[in-house]
Amino acid sequence: MAAGKAYFGSATDNPELADTVYVNGLSNTADFGQITPGNAMKWDTIEPSRGTFSYTNGDAIVSLAQKNGQKLRCHTLVWYSQLPNWVKSGGFDNATLISIMKNHITNEVTHYKGKCLHWDVANEALNEDGTYRSNVFYDTIGPAYLPIAFATAAAADPEARLYYNDYNIESAGSKSTGAQNIVKLIKQYGAKIDGVGFQSHFIVGSTPSESAQTSNMNAFVSLGVEVAITELDIRTTTPSTASAIAQQAKDYAATIGACKAVSKCVGVTIWDYTDKYSWIPSVFSGQGAALPWDENIQKKLDIYNAILNAWGSAPSGATTTANVATSAAATTSAKPTTTSTSGTVAKWGQCGGIGWLGGTVCESGSTCTKSNDYYSQCI
Ligand code: G3I
Repeated sequence: MAAGKAYFGSATDNPELADTVYVNGLSNTADFGQITPGNAMKWDTIEPSRGTFSYTNGDAIVSLAQKNGQKLRCHTLVWYSQLPNWVKSGGFDNATLISIMKNHITNEVTHYKGKCLHWDVANEALNEDGTYRSNVFYDTIGPAYLPIAFATAAAADPEARLYYNDYNIESAGSKSTGAQNIVKLIKQYGAKIDGVGFQSHFIVGSTPSESAQTSNMNAFVSLGVEVAITELDIRTTTPSTASAIAQQAKDYAATIGACKAVSKCVGVTIWDYTDKYSWIPSVFSGQGAALPWDENIQKKLDIYNAILNAWGSAPSGATTTANVATSAAATTSAKPTTTSTSGTVAKWGQCGGIGWLGGTVCESGSTCTKSNDYYSQCI
């Protein structure tokens, strides 16, 4: 049910593909015009040991999407979690880790070139207060790891739309501001960022209002990016009650309605479609029932109808196309042409590692004193 947007979709994962009832539901393009692999494209699956790439799981999900004519959001290239120990605890120096990260991104994005409408290039880079989350990339490279990752992904697949993806950035606050600063950082660097993904792992009754979500989306749109709801689920205490379900229907409607109201919100993805395969009960004990289909893969009509009403359309996902690359209009940002290795920065640029060596994004007229690859070069 695309409803004038690019898609409405669901996450999925490889073990579930053995469940015929589940696959039939996921493959119903009247409901789902898009798929996100929940785990299959993460670093620990794709490059479990250095230089060894394994695409079997990811390819299975791509094949299903292609067979069904569904679009793909590809998820995710650089994340602190589901990151193998050889990366996390390798003790690599700055230049080596940059080259490992670039190699990973280049290899994976090239493998899936032309197949991903979106790539979640970086995931969950922020703390709750909007500061950068400590992880091996930030601690070794500094914030520059973000623009480097985006520039590398753009070089490998210029057609894919490149996203920063995070949770608790769905309404105004420090973390949302931090995510907006990431958009600015990447753009200042001259790298391409096309969108921001709002994961939207909400809780019944404390989901941000439609207007709070709409105005937050618009704050991102005004920076020149599109937005998407990328991992929507709305959890409650289980077993859920009639009043919780009524509130949950309102919370789904608020979230879907916000995307509907913002023209640059391109689509909504729920984080799997049935409670049978939701990640929530294993992480939040005693909570779940977060999705529009129950544990028996039966539609919850209250929730489903609330989504349809807010989306404002009869099912229409069957009109989606298999060739996502053709619908992923590529935009390329101009790469800066000047390089300052020392002295005054002629244009804006990056110097001293944006934090790693105490540097910042250089403004015109500021001074750069280091030179060596991205982290110590004004471009
Ligand atoms: O692959 C191993 C398997 O070999 C082992 O036998 C099994 C035993 O527990 O674990 C398997 O790994 C699990 C993995 O999913 C694959 O199924 C991990 O334990 C489990 O923690 C992992 O959970 C995933 C979670 O990300 C990890 O952070 C969820 O399925 C996945 O839905 C979830 O997705 C994330 C998004 O990527 C980012 N945003 C939040 C969202 C929800 O946490």
